[in-house]
Amino acid sequence: MIAALYIKRFAPEDIKEVVDLEKRAFPVGPYTREELDLAFSSSGSFNFLLYDNDTHNLLGYVVATEIDRLTANIESIAVDPDIEGKGAGSVLLKYIEDEMMARGYKVSTLEVREKNDRAIEFYKKKGYQMLEVVNDFYQLSFKGSKHALRFIKKLS
Ligand SMILES: CC(C)(COP(=O)(O)OP(=O)(O)OC[C@H]1O[C@@H](n2cnc3c(N)ncnc32)[C@H](O)[C@@H]1OP(=O)(O)O)[C@@H](O)C(=O)NCCC(=O)NCCS
Repeated sequence: MIAALYIKRFAPEDIKEVVDLEKRAFPVGPYTREELDLAFSSSGSFNFLLYDNDTHNLLGYVVATEIDRLTANIESIAVDPDIEGKGAGSVLLKYIEDEMMARGYKVSTLEVREKNDRAIEFYKKKGYQMLEVVNDFYQLSFKGSKHALRFIKKLS
């Protein structure tokens, strides 16, 4: 676990740091600045940014949005590759799921690349279950696939 962290909400001036982290975390098909701007600022969306308390560097982010009155979807979650496997993803996921519940959502969903073994393992550990394969969900191939797996978790 990383020693000291703090969490805050996204503000427009954070976009550059988020874009930089996005490029490092997703070697294939990172969201563009415009896509991230939209994800963070669209109505019904909510987010958390995670920082190192000493350096004030961005360590990760998560952004979610409403699908319907009972369902919210994790649009994206990423941590700095240098600190993967040290608990930052777990912190971000916990914050966003708690926020979903506080907003009255009963179900969390997400899509993940079918070849993103690490993230799939992460979600399974956190209680997500595979619902369906979504063919050609992504424009670019990662490890030969454009398909997504849609995962779902009942919040409680
Ligand atoms: C997926 C991601 C957010 C996970 O964040 P993280 O900080 O590495 O995750 P944590 O350290 O909190 O790990 C949580 C669990 O995931 C599992 N996990 C982490 N790294 C793993 C790996 N390389 N292989 C298998 N499981 C792994 C661990 O078993 C861990 O469980 P534990 O707490 O019992 O040890 C992070 O790897 C990431 O940003 N990846 C790149 C971007 C991405 O693919 N995002 C998801 C898009 S849908």
